[in-house]
Amino acid sequence: MSVRREPLRVGVLASGRGSNLQAILDASRSSGYPARVVVVISDRETAAALARARAAGVEALFLDPKQDGDREAFDRRIVQTLQARGVELVCNAGYMRILSPVFVRAFAGRAINVHPSLLPAFPGLHAQRQALAAGVKIAGVTVHFVDEGIDTGAIVAQAGVPVLDDDTEESLAARILVEEHRLYPEVVRWIAEGRVSVDGRRVRVR
Ligand code: GRF
Repeated sequence: MSVRREPLRVGVLASGRGSNLQAILDASRSSGYPARVVVVISDRETAAALARARAAGVEALFLDPKQDGDREAFDRRIVQTLQARGVELVCNAGYMRILSPVFVRAFAGRAINVHPSLLPAFPGLHAQRQALAAGVKIAGVTVHFVDEGIDTGAIVAQAGVPVLDDDTEESLAARILVEEHRLYPEVVRWIAEGRVSVDGRRVRVR
């Protein structure tokens, strides 16, 4: 007899548009998807991500960083909020704050991020602009575990897209985004299915 576990409880941190959140919400509506978003937290009250969560019937919380003395205190509040809801995996989806060790330690190996470049190339802000400036011919997306650096955690999956001669930052970003929306929910599925193992920097997917 196969043992069917409850869907993995996912919390999403998002600061803006929330299109990657939407991709995960959409995936989790399909039958048999092994994860569900139980809470979305934003550091910006007007983030479209919060509206998307509410529209999907998911708890949407604005936590105001100004209420806390420092980054650690804010992250402690985030960790408590996630833990109180039994969150097992945290997905950063356009979350624009640097996570402190308080968060990273609490969710070590249980927090992932999506970044619009083929890391370790072009971490940080404006990854697509950096790719165009460097003249690379292949750009793409990386899903990686969160560690204490900026976009430095162990890489789970990547997908490449071509850089075209007439690309602008916007056209390249749009091409990469299609792959983000495909790959991010897929990685969440692999983790939920228990198929991902980490050995130092090497992440293996069965
Ligand atoms: C995406 O390009 C993601 O890779 C990056 O920030 C952007 C967020 O977009 N970290 P959205 O809020 O998911 O639409």
